[in-house]
Amino acid sequence: MPQPNAVKCLVVDDEPRLRRVLVRLLEGEGFTCAEAGSGTEALAMLQQEPVPLVISDLRMPQMDGVGLLREIVARWPDTAVIVVTAVAEVESAVACLQLGALDYVAKPFHLDEVRARVMQALDKRRLKMELEDYRHNLERRVQEQAHRIEELSLERLQALVHFLEEKDQYLRGHSVRVANYSLAIARQLQLPAERIDTIALGAELHDIGKIGVSESVLHKPGKLTDAEYRHIMEHPVIGARVLAPLMRDVPGALAIVRSHHERLDGKGFPDGLRSDEIPLEVRVVTVADSFDAMTSLRPYRPALPVPKALQELEAGKGAQFHAPAVDAFLAAFPDRAALPISTPEVRPLHLPGPAADALRASSPPN
Ligand SMILES: [Fe+2]
Repeated sequence: MPQPNAVKCLVVDDEPRLRRVLVRLLEGEGFTCAEAGSGTEALAMLQQEPVPLVISDLRMPQMDGVGLLREIVARWPDTAVIVVTAVAEVESAVACLQLGALDYVAKPFHLDEVRARVMQALDKRRLKMELEDYRHNLERRVQEQAHRIEELSLERLQALVHFLEEKDQYLRGHSVRVANYSLAIARQLQLPAERIDTIALGAELHDIGKIGVSESVLHKPGKLTDAEYRHIMEHPVIGARVLAPLMRDVPGALAIVRSHHERLDGKGFPDGLRSDEIPLEVRVVTVADSFDAMTSLRPYRPALPVPKALQELEAGKGAQFHAPAVDAFLAAFPDRAALPISTPEVRPLHLPGPAADALRASSPPN
């Protein structure tokens, strides 16, 4: 009587008598057995239902044991194969081991020997599968941890941005507001969740390159000289250089940092990109960044009133700004009195993507 959780085994031999001997032995050990009279028949049965163990004769008509072994190794690598050979065929048996058979039994065989070989082969199979599973999980865990390390580094940089903004009355809250305006535009445009995450990440870090700009230039009350203007406009390139090693998996966010001062007409910085050369993620943040810059106090001018800033966005459609992004901004804030938004809470940053989702699902909140 086969056990409910019995290991399934396929016995392949063209001699029914020998098959029966093996089947009786294996069933006596608690296995559930199926029988095939040739390699071709065995393959058809495996196709229906793969099994953990195949014991196969080498010499059979049609497809022989070697052909069957090759197929099994290629198609069902988790199946353990033991070949049964005549004593005179030991060389073929060794060739089968090289092809991937886990063991061989020479005829005439002793039942005790077959029993021992079968148990050993199943043990080897289990260890092999555990090792593969471990390797697979290890790769996934290493990938998840690398992702987390990148996130933590980005969070440190986010903290740095907020620290720099906090001590500067003109920049205070800028990156969080730009991220929130950008999120509102992206949602209005009904972009997929992963692109929205990319936009939020890029928007919060877009001005990180200002770390490299001297305060005397940032805070200069009067008109900037050409050299000072060029110096300030280096910040997208500096930012992209700082973040590149951490944003290998999120090129969209890195593009936001490098290209948020580009214009559709090609007159922007630093690369003079034109229309479609500027990724949509960047075009969204450009609108949000410009609105926040216009409605914020600057050392050289007061904050623009909201209606005036909205007019500027409208006027810049097509030349400076992506028209659908401007429209999405206006649609996202129908109540003009709610603009500009007050500085929202800082959200923890995260990298978009499936690895991040898996990690968040498996990690306790901290
Ligand atoms: Fe900027």
